[in-house]
Amino acid sequence: MQKKLSLLAASSFAGLALVISSLNAADAPAPAASSASASGSGMAAPAASGMPRGAAAPAAPDLSKLVAASDKKGLLFEKDVFPILKASCSGCHVNPTRNPSGGLNLTSLELALKGRNAAKDIVAGHGDQSLLLLYASDAVKGKEMPPMNGRVAHPPIKAEDLAIVRAWLDQGAKGDPAAAAAAAASSAAASGSGAAKPAAASASASGSAK
Ligand code: HEC
Repeated sequence: MQKKLSLLAASSFAGLALVISSLNAADAPAPAASSASASGSGMAAPAASGMPRGAAAPAAPDLSKLVAASDKKGLLFEKDVFPILKASCSGCHVNPTRNPSGGLNLTSLELALKGRNAAKDIVAGHGDQSLLLLYASDAVKGKEMPPMNGRVAHPPIKAEDLAIVRAWLDQGAKGDPAAAAAAAASSAAASGSGAAKPAAASASASGSAK
């Protein structure tokens, strides 16, 4: 069946195919040109490290949109980063009981690192490869965070705060185990279930070897 069809196609369209192929040869675009333009920053290509199976590659990020990292040292998720994310991202990336947007929960570092795409959302040591920063910096078309149509209720992160988020990612996306434990305890208490999970806190600190 397959053979018959293609034979038929071959014979009746042979003439056309010839025309097309000669056209192609005449003005074939140079495919190398566009990909070359993305490499200006001198960074190693991030794509090599962790492409998920079968996922469509996102649009190449426009790294010129990123602000420089803050020079503040010792940044921790709970103390420095969560307060920033809370104002702009919480509405959609917090609810621990429902499925958060994009599978990414930004209420705690532990939950954030367990997101569906966590390995790409937070790339410890590389702010400029972390979707969290790239999306919040409007560096990826169509993936601006907060989404363009949600910016009345959720204001975008200010440049000086993005600088802190970037520095935190560059420094290894670290969390404070003690603060995480306290937060877990207080939310368990608030929920009234009494079922605190003591194991949770220690897990969050282990992720980011530098
Ligand atoms: C109005 C709701 C809303 C707000 C506010 C919001 N997001 Fe999102 N976010 C979404 C939705 C919906 C998706 C999934 C969209 C998609 O994957 O195309 C998403 C996806 C993401 C992803 C990708 C997750 C993945 O699949 O890897 C990241 C990273 C992200 N958001 C970061 C942020 C950050 C950082 C903020 C705050 C600056 C923020 N978002 C604010 C709705 C929101």
